[in-house]
Amino acid sequence: MTPTREAFQITGLAGKRTLSGEIPVRGAKNDALKAIPASFLFSDTLTIENIPHIADISAMANLVKGLGGIVEENDRTMRITTTHADGKELPVEIAKRMRASVVSVGPVLARFGHVSFPHPGGCVIGARPIDLFLKSFEKMGATYEVDDKFYHIKATNGKLRGADIFLDIASVGVTETVMMAAVLAEGTTTIRNAAMEPEIQNLASFFVECGAQITGIGTPTLTITGGELLKTNGQAYQVIPDRIEAGSFAILAALAGTEITITGCNLEHLRALLSAFDTAGVRYEKHTNALTVYGADNYTAVNIKTHEYPGFATDLQAPMAILLTQAEGESLVFETMFEGRLHFTDDLVKMGADITMFDPHRVMIRSKKQLVGRELESPDLRAGLAFVIAGIIATKTSRIRNIHHIDRGYEKIEERFRALGVQIERVAD
Ligand code: EPZ
Repeated sequence: MTPTREAFQITGLAGKRTLSGEIPVRGAKNDALKAIPASFLFSDTLTIENIPHIADISAMANLVKGLGGIVEENDRTMRITTTHADGKELPVEIAKRMRASVVSVGPVLARFGHVSFPHPGGCVIGARPIDLFLKSFEKMGATYEVDDKFYHIKATNGKLRGADIFLDIASVGVTETVMMAAVLAEGTTTIRNAAMEPEIQNLASFFVECGAQITGIGTPTLTITGGELLKTNGQAYQVIPDRIEAGSFAILAALAGTEITITGCNLEHLRALLSAFDTAGVRYEKHTNALTVYGADNYTAVNIKTHEYPGFATDLQAPMAILLTQAEGESLVFETMFEGRLHFTDDLVKMGADITMFDPHRVMIRSKKQLVGRELESPDLRAGLAFVIAGIIATKTSRIRNIHHIDRGYEKIEERFRALGVQIERVAD
């Protein structure tokens, strides 16, 4: 993303718990981001509702436009028509800076028989290769070539065919793109060791409502029998609440709130976090589509091991680490998915946290230390928000730079945090 040269200036609460009120959760970035390219699977206009206003969504909409789709936006609703689209080359600048662009490869390849794209970029949280995408498409009868700029994938005779695919890693993106490709492929595709994230389940369930044959939704084995383009018949796709936003807000509430209610969330998607809260001693009350969290003075250490859904989400690891800097005892954080996702803890140490890194995947966070505000560079989206939370509980003032990362995934976060009592300003950097 082009840096916006803005920063967040935060006046820390110095460990006091003063925040209160309600904070709404927006539509899930990682659901909406896949629903937009799913428009290539439809013969009619796809309407998507509950779209969050964030930079990544605008980028994905522009990617679909670049492939010839027509995109109309009205507040939180997006209408996408791909009837006359015929683009086969993903817009380079968008694809290079957004990892999720690679998910569009499946539907585009299945629809047009050919797709070219550069190596996808995105948050620098690990190597993030695309080998499993290529291996899966090969199994479905495609061939690919790589030149100095692009991957070029072609379906033999212009049509993908069903295949039995075992995913070496239960990858979210590979599951989504292969499932979408399989919806238009000839014959039956079985995806084994499929990822089961709620966003994938939402996508698959909507495809079924629109005529797709998919079984095993929400299990590690998805079976998809391909057919014609899907038809919405006027049904709209509802983006699910963002579980990472909800979880991050709950963590902020535990650290700095008296009583904060997170509204518009799905508690079923937060089970792993709430289980960790139970161990840590965070008190909360569940409501229908809302969660009230009551801050407390003392929390207990918890060991966290990130895992595919329904395990503890890697995207919640960074905010949870902030909570653990305020817990009594030793917490081991084991980041199993991305080897670059614990580097942000170096900055927490500079803020006064007692953290030892054993290797890129494991850190030990020791007993409660008061964090001291400072200038921080947001390294990626999730660690960026974790720094905001760290700045809120710290003493003094913190300045979080590189906030274009945060804007990629959280809609007007400063306005929603201010409504809780956080002193945060967006300033020119
Ligand atoms: C999705 O990324 C999310 N992004 C990520 O959220 C999230 O952290 C991740 O899933 C895990 O939950 C979107 O949905 C847009 P993976 P994805 O493929 O699909 C390896 C955020 O902040 N792998 O499940 O890219 C990969 O390197 C983002 O919102 C291969 O080795 O994640 C990683 O170690 C960051 N080869 C592991 O699989 C491949 O071909 C899991 O990644 C593909 C993946």
